[in-house]
Amino acid sequence: MTGQLDGRSAVVTGGGRGVGLAIAQALVDAGASVVVADNGTAIDGRGESEEVASAAAAALGETAVPFAGDMSDPTSASALVDLATQEFGRLDIVVNAAAILRDAFVFKGNVDDWNAVIGTNLSAAYYLLAAATPVMRAQAKATEDYDWGRIVNITSTAGFYGNFGQAAYASAKAGLFGLTRVTAMDLARAGITCNAVAPFGRTRVTEIIQPANDFQAEYKDRAMRVSPAHVARFVAYLCAAEAQTITGQLFAVRGREVFLFGQPRPTAHIAKDDADWTPAALHEGVSRELAPHFTDLTTDLEAFNTEPLV
Ligand SMILES: NC(=O)c1ccc[n+]([C@@H]2O[C@H](COP(=O)([O-])OP(=O)(O)OC[C@H]3O[C@@H](n4cnc5c(N)ncnc54)[C@H](O)[C@@H]3O)[C@@H](O)[C@H]2O)c1
Repeated sequence: MTGQLDGRSAVVTGGGRGVGLAIAQALVDAGASVVVADNGTAIDGRGESEEVASAAAAALGETAVPFAGDMSDPTSASALVDLATQEFGRLDIVVNAAAILRDAFVFKGNVDDWNAVIGTNLSAAYYLLAAATPVMRAQAKATEDYDWGRIVNITSTAGFYGNFGQAAYASAKAGLFGLTRVTAMDLARAGITCNAVAPFGRTRVTEIIQPANDFQAEYKDRAMRVSPAHVARFVAYLCAAEAQTITGQLFAVRGREVFLFGQPRPTAHIAKDDADWTPAALHEGVSRELAPHFTDLTTDLEAFNTEPLV
């Protein structure tokens, strides 16, 4: 990717650690300047440390600058966009990777945890897109070919399969995909793409998995062998000129595997054209035509617990 993103300017939220840091590194390696936006918080979103963003930016080199604001605060979004445009003169790439986890079974959760997770994992992405896309759109319109601008939202397979105890996290990640689709539509005429990528990669989050049984121990062992650099390579590809026509898509990257996900569309259908449905007729129609197509309750951990290519 060397040189493919020369002259481009990016912001990466959650860029101080883990998957976000790997993405920031890949963008810098490809020639982009990057604002590393990370408030250095704990996995559960408690506490902050300015050190995380500044250490990451320093390690990335002179084309990276830190931003330590809390992205769940709407004022951080415009401050981050201002910083990128002041430092680099433009903004071409936005990667939303910041996220926190506060897991609880739905029958045990609380509203504060729900709001914190939705605020960081979903609302913060919207705040940043609302602040960044007017700048990106104005830039695109100023060129003749309307062909530049890239947005990548880092989602999770938990948002589409679900996983035990992840009501808030999965809801935010599923919501992020809705945001991805609409952003792709709203910015299509400006030539700005927006895609979602569900990553797999060894980070502090996989490190703290405490296996409760053999299945989870096996999952952790596999997860710990997957470098987040693979995800970063794919995100950098989505940001390159070759990916201009790729938008509104949902991918996953695990090691050297890249998955394209189907998107929910009707897979079966029943209709009554002569009268309203009765309960008995509904039960008969649902059982015969829809039930064979129901989706089972496989979690994402179970669905992806196969040997990774690392
Ligand atoms: N690691 C995986 O296998 C995996 C799997 C599925 C999804 N993801 C997603 O990938 C992304 C990165 O995850 P990770 O495993 O690298 O986690 P991580 O905890 O290592 O990194 C997340 C970073 O985001 C930062 N952050 C959190 N809240 C913030 C806020 N309000 N403002 C600014 N920065 C904030 C944290 O300080 C941290 O450095 C997340 O969106 C996560 O949901 C990761």
